[in-house]
Amino acid sequence: MVMKTDKWIYTFFITAVVLSAGMVAFYAVKAFAHTGEWNQVSSEPLEGLHYVLIPQETDNDYWRLIEKGARKAEQEENITLEYNGPAKSDMADHIEWIEKAIASRVDGIITQGLQDELFRPVINKAIDKGIPVITIDTDAPSSERSAYVGTDNYEAGFLAGEALIEDTNGQAKVGIITGSFDAENMQLRVQGFNDALKKAPGIEVLDTKSSDIKRIQAAQKTNQMMAEHPEINAFFGTSALDSFGIVSTLQQRGWQDDFYIIGFDTLPETIDLIEEGKVDATVVQHPFEMGYESVKKLKELSQNKPVGAINHTTTSILRKQDLTNQKPFYPEIGEGP
Ligand code: BGC
Repeated sequence: MVMKTDKWIYTFFITAVVLSAGMVAFYAVKAFAHTGEWNQVSSEPLEGLHYVLIPQETDNDYWRLIEKGARKAEQEENITLEYNGPAKSDMADHIEWIEKAIASRVDGIITQGLQDELFRPVINKAIDKGIPVITIDTDAPSSERSAYVGTDNYEAGFLAGEALIEDTNGQAKVGIITGSFDAENMQLRVQGFNDALKKAPGIEVLDTKSSDIKRIQAAQKTNQMMAEHPEINAFFGTSALDSFGIVSTLQQRGWQDDFYIIGFDTLPETIDLIEEGKVDATVVQHPFEMGYESVKKLKELSQNKPVGAINHTTTSILRKQDLTNQKPFYPEIGEGP
């Protein structure tokens, strides 16, 4: 009888140990692989190379164009690309997404280096783990990122400054709506713009406010600026949706043609505003090409091919007279002059 009870206790004990070990192993693998996070886009098992594109803001038309370019390369290269990241611009959340990608042991990461110092540790962590990282749109030059693909943001801001000088004959009182005071692409654009204006003593920048890359906030900040500086007669919007906010405020206040507006990017709505004569000029970037090239470069890195560190996409100024009769004009997808 004693023997029998011992045997039962023994069997119970062994079963408990085996069950708990099994559970520990199951949850450890689950946590490590982060399957719930990065397999959302395709439910099929991932085959071959698995890259991730982490944008600043997922549902932003500019980033959707980058995604389109990346998807084209995804098909050509026969890899799996996932597009996921912060729903609304948020640097801490953005870094968290990069951490998740590292934990999921992806084969390559494409993301912005929004703030060099803040993003450097997580980018270097990926590199240390053997995951190549391409910075896109905004570089993190002091990190060990494998390469940068995107606009020369200082140059882009400088071009905007030169365009404003030319179009206003060197006479303007300017308000700047910037996408962010913290993001380095925005800082470089404002810096380039202000540097270009140094040669135009008749132009004065009266205020700079942040839209947090949101159209509504761009509108609110424009309104506030106009109340604080009634003499403002020109605006520079440094991120894709800023010119939309600027225009909507000017419309609400009773549209006046003598305002000069220069924005950023060539989203369909931007092109419409240029056609209508509401936005005078815009800085052209090539998000489609950025997405496409960054996937191509990741593939080359996966094949141990050398890739140049800095890969600038071109930047130029677009005005109404540059639009042809051919519509729509979306340089990103190869339409237009
Ligand atoms: C910038 C992106 C930004 C976007 C916001 C673009 O001009 O290059 O960094 O996320 O605007 O709408």
